[in-house]
Amino acid sequence: MKSWGAIVTSSSYQESRTKNSPVKLSLPDPIRWNDGDVTIIDQTRLPTEEVFLSSHNYLDVCEWIKSLRIRGAPAIGIAAAYAATLAAFEYGSTNTIDTKLESALQAILLTRPTAVNIRNVLARLRNLDISGTSVGEVFLYQAQEILDEEVDSCRRIGRFGLELIPDKAVILTHCHTGGLATGGYGTALGMIRAAHEAGKDVMVLVDETRPLLQGARLTAWELQKLGIDFRLIVDGASGIAMRKFKANLAVVGADRITANGDTANKIGTYNLSVLCKENGVPFYVAAPSSSFDLAAKSGDEIPIEERNPDEITHFRDCQSAPEDISVFSPAFDVTPAKNIAAFVTERGIIRPEYRVSIAAGIATH
Ligand code: MRU
Repeated sequence: MKSWGAIVTSSSYQESRTKNSPVKLSLPDPIRWNDGDVTIIDQTRLPTEEVFLSSHNYLDVCEWIKSLRIRGAPAIGIAAAYAATLAAFEYGSTNTIDTKLESALQAILLTRPTAVNIRNVLARLRNLDISGTSVGEVFLYQAQEILDEEVDSCRRIGRFGLELIPDKAVILTHCHTGGLATGGYGTALGMIRAAHEAGKDVMVLVDETRPLLQGARLTAWELQKLGIDFRLIVDGASGIAMRKFKANLAVVGADRITANGDTANKIGTYNLSVLCKENGVPFYVAAPSSSFDLAAKSGDEIPIEERNPDEITHFRDCQSAPEDISVFSPAFDVTPAKNIAAFVTERGIIRPEYRVSIAAGIATH
C-alpha cells in the first residue's frame, strides 16, 4: 500500500505550475467615495462579471454588507464608516448624534455580527468631536482616514510578514483576504503579494472555501490577476495538498481576535489550523489592529453569524441538496490561540504568550 506522500499524478509539480496563465490586469478598488455616493464592486458577481454599484442611501450599503456584495472584515468596517456618513448627510445632522442617526448606526452595527471591525469603526465615529459642525463632513473625513489606514496597514503587514516566508514557499490560505476584502492590497494575501513582489518564489494552495467559494471566486481571481502561482483545491483537500506540496506555512485573515489570541475567521479555518498542527506546518493569522477585540477575553465571547441555509443547499440558483432538510450554517469558526504560531499586524509580529503580547502590541497604541 502506498504511503500518503507517494500519490502519483499525471503531471509533475513543475509542469503543472505553468497552468495558471497570469492575467496581470489591475485590481479594482473595493470601495470608494464618489462625490456623495459610495461605490463598490459587487463581489457576489465575481469572477465572471465586474459590476459596480453606487448609492447615496445608507440602507443600500447595509444591504450590500448583509448580502456579501462587499465582504471581508476590514472592507465592511470601511463600508460601515461610509454608511454612517451617508446617514448623517441624509438626516442633515449637526452638533450631535440625534435619534434618527442613532437608529441608523444601530442598523449598520447589526448588518454582520462576527467581524469586530464594524463595531470598532462605529465606536471611533462616536468618539469624534462633532460640536458645532456637520456630522456628515466629520464622518466623511474619518471614513477616508480609515480607508487610507487600512491600505497602509495591509502594506505594513506585507512587509512584516516577509520574514515568515522562505525564498521558495508553498503557502496555504483559506477564504479571501486580498485587496477587495480590505481597503486594497490585502492582509494574508497581502503578505503573499509582498513576498512575490520581493522576488520570492511562492505557490499558493487556495481552499475553495465552501459554501460561498470566496477562495475559488475571489482569491483565485486576484492571484491570477497578480500573476502569482497557485493551485485551487477543495477544502477537504487541504490535508493531502499540504503533504504533497510540502507546505511551508498557512496564513489566513481574521474577523475578530480576542485578548487571549482566539481568532474567528471563515468557517473551515479551525479545521485547517488542526491539520497544520498535525503536520508541523506553522499557522499564521494576518490582521490589522482594527480586527482585535480586546474587550473579549476569549473566543467564547465571539458571536458567530449563522447564514441562510440556502447558501448550503444551493449555489446561486442551482439546488444541490434535497428540499426541506435541516442545515447548520455557521459562517465562521474560532481557532484557538494555541494553534496560532504568530499574528502579523501592521505594528509587527505578535508571538505567544498572547495574553501578554497582544496587550503589549495592540492595546498600548
Ligand atoms: O463572510 P466573509 O466572506 O466576509 O468572511 C471573510 C473572512 O472570513 C476573511 O478571512 C476575513 O474577513 C479577513 S479579510 C482580510
